[in-house]
Amino acid sequence: MKRILVTGGTGFIGSHTVVELLQAGDYEVDIVDNLANSKETVIDDIEKITGKRPNFYKQDLLEEDKLRDLFRERDYESVIHFAGLKAVGESVEKPLEYYENNLLSTLNILKCMKEFGTNRMVFSSSATVYGDRDNVALTEDMQTGIGITNPYGRTKFMIEEILKDFCVSDNTKQAVILRYFNPIGNHESGLIGEDPNGIPNNLMPIIMRVSQGRIPELSVYGDDYDTPDGTCIRDYIHVVDLAKGHLAALEKTEGAGVFIYNLGTGKGTSVKEMIIAFEEASGKALPHKIAARRAGDLPAIFANVSKAENELGWKATHTVADAMRDTIKFLNKE
Ligand code: UD1
Repeated sequence: MKRILVTGGTGFIGSHTVVELLQAGDYEVDIVDNLANSKETVIDDIEKITGKRPNFYKQDLLEEDKLRDLFRERDYESVIHFAGLKAVGESVEKPLEYYENNLLSTLNILKCMKEFGTNRMVFSSSATVYGDRDNVALTEDMQTGIGITNPYGRTKFMIEEILKDFCVSDNTKQAVILRYFNPIGNHESGLIGEDPNGIPNNLMPIIMRVSQGRIPELSVYGDDYDTPDGTCIRDYIHVVDLAKGHLAALEKTEGAGVFIYNLGTGKGTSVKEMIIAFEEASGKALPHKIAARRAGDLPAIFANVSKAENELGWKATHTVADAMRDTIKFLNKE
């Protein structure tokens, strides 16, 4: 059994990855999470799905001594690092909080990895590191860091650079950087899913709250873009596919150094198509209106996924319709 530390393991992508790790059978999972944007009951739901209970440590990664104690005691084979603040708008208002939290927590983990001989980190990065690019399939070798519009995005870029320096300095370390496109959906059991504390920012959680009547209507941010239906196009990936990408990264990446993979589907879907897909899955109309463009939005963003396919033997298999079906199950959980 390989013992893995999963930071942010009660969050949306983290919890789905923990499920895949436990179901694979080869991993013992320790979760560290401060529950800033999740709930402890997720641990019970993970146990219901897998029949196994991950070890849970409610602690903050900024508490360096506590983290060191954990590394000393638990001797991790790898770390999968999800934890971080991720609200784009909030990051513009509170840049110092974002830099402090996201950067220092990562540095604390890397220091522990160095001290206690943990050689691999799989890091949750984002397509946002590609910055201001449009309507081209994004490939991992493209330059990053130019035209990022917010501190959240810059923390992802900066952490990627830190990981590169870390691996240059120590030839026993491996960093696998996974650049996520837009994760949606949830586990087919409907037991876990995306349930942010506070007001959501991303399209899917907003659609979910509109359908529950908790938000009156969805504002579609612009329908006058240069796209077939005028609304923005994104590469929406089912979170279970994304979670399986982490397993592929753990299993297929060998040797020291930095490995970077896009995790997307390679296919774009517009906001209007997302609304229609949700309406088809739920069987009812989703109240929405056309609103002004949101600052910083790019018309079309999607991945080239050949590298992950060729090197990790991984490919997304779920469709947007699958994600919508699973979302409805999660909405009906209670
Ligand atoms: C956003 C962030 C990105 C971050 C990602 C994951 C911006 C500009 N980008 O990506 O840095 O990595 O989330 O957290 O914020 N939309 C609406 N109405 C809404 C909400 C969204 O029409 O109420 C549209 C947006 O214009 C966009 C699409 O839905 O076209 C997806 O939006 P969102 O879920 O916020 O993701 P991104 O903008 O792709």
